[in-house]
Amino acid sequence: MMKNEKRLVMALIVVVVLFLSLLIANGGFHKTTPENSDDEHELADEDLIVVGFSQLGSESVWRATHTQSIQKALSKENGFFLQYSNARQKQENQIKAIRGYISQRVDYIVFSPLMEDGWETVLTEAKDAGIPVILVDRKISGAEELYTTYIGSDMAAEGRKAGEWLEEYEKKRNKKDQQSDDEPQEDEDLNIVMLTGTLGSTSQRGRSSGFEEVASKHLNWKVVGLSSGDFTVVKGKEVMAQMLRRFDDIDVVVSQNDEMTFGAMEAIEEAGKSTGTNGDMVLISFDGSREALELVKSGKISCDVECNPLQGQLLADVINKLEAGEQVEKEYFVEELVFTQENVSAYLPNRAY
Ligand code: AHR
Repeated sequence: MMKNEKRLVMALIVVVVLFLSLLIANGGFHKTTPENSDDEHELADEDLIVVGFSQLGSESVWRATHTQSIQKALSKENGFFLQYSNARQKQENQIKAIRGYISQRVDYIVFSPLMEDGWETVLTEAKDAGIPVILVDRKISGAEELYTTYIGSDMAAEGRKAGEWLEEYEKKRNKKDQQSDDEPQEDEDLNIVMLTGTLGSTSQRGRSSGFEEVASKHLNWKVVGLSSGDFTVVKGKEVMAQMLRRFDDIDVVVSQNDEMTFGAMEAIEEAGKSTGTNGDMVLISFDGSREALELVKSGKISCDVECNPLQGQLLADVINKLEAGEQVEKEYFVEELVFTQENVSAYLPNRAY
């Protein structure tokens, strides 16, 4: 090899070695970001607050919006490094993710518990490691000493709102009957079927107990059928189809989220029946997604009790308070409305999800 060629080869080697060192210092070829770090973990920049977030799944538009809201608020620009994992509706996946966050010694663990029971062991491990745990959307049963705070909905209040809407609706209907030649219906049985969400979850337990609290005041309200549709369209349809086969005369369907409501509506239509105040049965839903609100506007859903998924900013504020050494509340409830045909048009244009 000529002298000049040797020099060129040496120079090339130096450039390649320098390039590789830089690459390694910056985290290598496969540096993950919060967006693509599903179930993967990595070291974070030193100044950022490291948060491990275990989401329970992606069963609904509500859930996707909840995840996005947290990812947006806990961004690098806002001073956070977010590790995200999706448990795909399995409690063991959430436990595994939480253990992963403990072994990484993240600054905070945030999680939305699939159901309320079964968290004592793993949350005791987090407590022993000195990592604060923040619950979002759903709670755990008892064991209040194992988490710092809860940010989410008042699920029992949501259930009560559904019951109170039905109470008002029935009052108006009876009044109308009394004014017309129709027989007043007051003491006639009101046959209700309930499609519940994931059994043992805060949203299922809270919405059920809140609604039952109101229902128990009315002797003629009969919950004739109750079954879980797991918060999904497919299950909602399946369970509603079973209800329609079992009962001839369903007056009210209370469906604990919009996805199950969409599935239930398909089953009702396929059975040749209709929903709405002028239809065969009244339909009450929860969440308030844009698609459901369009159906409230058209009258097919009579009442949709809002469950507000926009919890990210409140979560960021609470973590910043904790970082500043300030006291925080044991629970923070997000604001929620009740949508009906009377008020829905005012909210639809700005509905983001
Ligand atoms: O816990 C909140 C509930 O979970 C929402 O109503 C539902 O859509 C979601 O899957």
